[in-house]
Amino acid sequence: MFDGYVAFAPLQGYTDIVYRRAHWRHAGGVAEYFTPFVRLVAGGLSSRDARDVNAQANAAVPTVAQIIARDADEFARLCEMLQRHGWKHINLNLGCPFPMQVNAGRGCGLLQNPVRLEEIAQEMQRWPDVVFSVKMRCGQKSVDEGLAAMQIVGGMPLSQVVIHPRLGCQQYKGYVDINAFGRMADICPHPVVYNGDLKTTAQIEYIMSQFPKLKGVMVGRGLLERPWMLCGKEPLMVLHSIHEELYRHADATLCGDSQKLSRLKAFWEYIDIDRKHKKSIMKATTLYRYDQAVALALQAPYIS
Ligand SMILES: Cc1cc2nc3c(=O)[nH]c(=O)nc-3n(C[C@H](O)[C@H](O)[C@H](O)COP(=O)(O)O)c2cc1C
Repeated sequence: MFDGYVAFAPLQGYTDIVYRRAHWRHAGGVAEYFTPFVRLVAGGLSSRDARDVNAQANAAVPTVAQIIARDADEFARLCEMLQRHGWKHINLNLGCPFPMQVNAGRGCGLLQNPVRLEEIAQEMQRWPDVVFSVKMRCGQKSVDEGLAAMQIVGGMPLSQVVIHPRLGCQQYKGYVDINAFGRMADICPHPVVYNGDLKTTAQIEYIMSQFPKLKGVMVGRGLLERPWMLCGKEPLMVLHSIHEELYRHADATLCGDSQKLSRLKAFWEYIDIDRKHKKSIMKATTLYRYDQAVALALQAPYIS
């Protein structure tokens, strides 16, 4: 069991407040969770984002709120809103590779714009009560962009920098570039957290042994696949408890089988269970069939 710092990565569409709470209660083993990024929509937060960063709902779980902004003005407005919601730790997304965000100059797009990034660095100085951190990639098109951005990120008042060593243009495909990670980490004056493609505690330990100065790691899809990975509890029990909480929430807040099924099936998309059971869960078109498929999956001996 790995007992260093592990954060649960933000995963838009998967790690919302309902999932984070259920994971914390029934699995845990994670030091903190990061919300998927929230952004400005018509000068405010969308109702979905507002629900996700509702301070009261998040109070029981150690959570960092993540924002995505294209310039110092958007950055300041989001900080203002989140501070009003009671947030003390805000993470800036410099790694989103989605073309819509990148083309608008957000996420990886900011890595290509040193002037705007420097303006955000200046703006951070105006928020002494907020703990800031950054989650970044190694560039949008080349590692040189990431290395240049790190010169500015290095001057920001940050508690840590999470580095996911892929380029934005790779999206989530291709290999992580461990060599680029090492170059970025070497010139980063802040505590560094490694993120990317970690699926087991052995892999976490390996990366920590390769970079002994690391603060820790952030894990995303590995924890969606095996939510029990860090807690030492019995896999099917963890699955059963998390699923039950998500199910109760979907049942109470959504209308009709198809809405409920689409929310619940998202939970199973990444889960590491045998193909036969996953297929029958995903094929279910009514809650009745879904319930039957899940009951069978949760009775099967867990093999991984
Ligand atoms: C479906 C999906 C949604 C994501 N949403 C976010 C997000 O909102 N903010 C962010 O910083 N990263 C986001 N990421 C990136 C992950 O946080 C993480 O950096 C990436 O998946 C690599 O880590 P992993 O291999 O441990 O999953 C997302 C990734 C995926 C696959």
